[in-house]
Amino acid sequence: MCGIIGYVGAKEAAPIILNGLKRLEYRGYDSAGIAIVQPSGSTDVRKDIGRVAAIDAKLDFLGMKGTIGIGHTRWATHGGVTQNNAHPHISNNGKIVVIHNGIVENYQDIKRRLLDEGFTFYGETDTETIPNLIELEMRGGKDFETAARDAIKQLDGYYAVLAMFDGERKIVASRDGSPLVAGVGAGENFIGSDIPAFLEHTKTVMYIHDKDFVVIDDAGIRFKDLDGRAIERPVHSIDWSLEQAQKGDFDHFMMKEISEQVDTVQKAANQDKETLFAVADAVKKAKGVFLVACGSSYHACLSASYIFSKIANMHVNLVLASEFSNYEHFLTPDTLVIAVSQSGETIDVLDAVRTARRKGSKVMSIVNVMGSSLHRNSDLSLMLNAGPEICVLSTKTYTAQLAVLSLLAYTVAGRYDEGRESLQYLWNVIYNLTAANTRDYIKQLADKLKDKEHVFLIGRGLQYPTALEAALKIKEVSYIHAEGFSGGELKHGTIALIEPGTPAIVFSSADNEKEIISNAMEIKARGGYIIGVNAHSNEVFDFFIKTPEVGLLNPIVQIIPVQILAYQLAVLRGCDPDMPRNLAKSVTVK
Ligand code: M6R
Repeated sequence: MCGIIGYVGAKEAAPIILNGLKRLEYRGYDSAGIAIVQPSGSTDVRKDIGRVAAIDAKLDFLGMKGTIGIGHTRWATHGGVTQNNAHPHISNNGKIVVIHNGIVENYQDIKRRLLDEGFTFYGETDTETIPNLIELEMRGGKDFETAARDAIKQLDGYYAVLAMFDGERKIVASRDGSPLVAGVGAGENFIGSDIPAFLEHTKTVMYIHDKDFVVIDDAGIRFKDLDGRAIERPVHSIDWSLEQAQKGDFDHFMMKEISEQVDTVQKAANQDKETLFAVADAVKKAKGVFLVACGSSYHACLSASYIFSKIANMHVNLVLASEFSNYEHFLTPDTLVIAVSQSGETIDVLDAVRTARRKGSKVMSIVNVMGSSLHRNSDLSLMLNAGPEICVLSTKTYTAQLAVLSLLAYTVAGRYDEGRESLQYLWNVIYNLTAANTRDYIKQLADKLKDKEHVFLIGRGLQYPTALEAALKIKEVSYIHAEGFSGGELKHGTIALIEPGTPAIVFSSADNEKEIISNAMEIKARGGYIIGVNAHSNEVFDFFIKTPEVGLLNPIVQIIPVQILAYQLAVLRGCDPDMPRNLAKSVTVK
């Protein structure tokens, strides 16, 4: 969950690494640090808890001199948020520095061995074992590179690791299960947990595969396996722009990315036709299709399961990636698993893919990040084409997933053209829903709700997954407890929580209006404050948000006002919309 960047070149490393860390903060933001090999040969390490800008103000990262260095933003897993636990971590002899993302599952065994050898530890992280293990390997006379490789071979778990040694102009790196990508510049090279880390310097990248061992020095980037044998990795150009990774005129990435949906839904719909038809063909031929995802991506899949049923007359199995192993005895070589993930690095999704592979099933994916682990481990991928999503919350990638999944369902049903046209029609609708006057209108609602402790959200049919996703948006960014459920479930328990003034957001559409309005009436009868999201108003609504009726594509348009509401609530409550507490952009640990 952490952000990683490394630089080797002729320029001062500190400003490049500092900027990279600011761009990576969405991956983790409880502490940060930088290590630079100074011209004298010794390594300067500065780290602390807090946000990157605050730490920089305190420790003066830009005062660090040298042209090779590494930096890290942390999302704590092992060990609390303390200065000692912040990365980079330093070996006992003070010569080796390491940054790491992931979890070393056998760190207790390694630590015991190191303690027996007389090593001491200043913090509680698993990471601190790595520089010391390298030091132990070097005691036998190995050079740094060999020792680092031999140490990394001993790690179990998920990791992306960067290491440097005093006086050597070299970064060594490896990964297994956690993201890492190299950036190729002119006379300078980069390595990062994510492309935005170095996007302003180069758009030429080399994807690092699991168990690759990478050496970056003034001679360039060399790939080896963990036994030291040279391997070749291709060079790719990426089409993400720097503007996409910057806030522009917006105060926050969240609102920028919500606004971008007017275009990103179209880009998602503009799928490579050959790949789309190949995936559709695989869906038709498969004996059993599973949609597998987590969080918002799961909600997109839940919507898709309704759409496949309605339009393609087809049942698709829907499973939370973290629960997928419970279904493995249904997997055969004729099964198709479609894994859906914005980042392509969510550990539970990758585990589900491994399970499917073990059973010989086909794996296809719907993913935003080209070169991500999921992308590389899929037989075929449909790309979301949404550009980098920096805000921790999924907004534009959620609607892009809905667009791709809907188009896939239309294609499976032999109605590709109709699907494309229906999605094209949304441009106008989304333009209006994200316009300044809509945002101002929704701000009036945010003002009314900002001090509430609970919000309930209900919907039936396709509005049920929308209610779940809308609740997730509100709770994760504003910290107001929000619970989404099916309108039909109301009387099975949750209605007990409705009190005078309790807000309830009610999503409806032409095909379920009567029943859901009855549910809204039941809430209103107990004093609830009803917010309707629908094509036309109803007397039961205390506040009404108009969204045009677009049938199976309603989930794409109806979530947008609540994304905006969640954003406004966060701002009014003084929460950071881009980096909510305790969260990070991709969940790369169990
Ligand atoms: O990268 P992924 O789509 O696999 O991520 C899945 C979830 O972690 C993600 O959707 C998460 O729920 C977000 N916080 C939602 O805003």
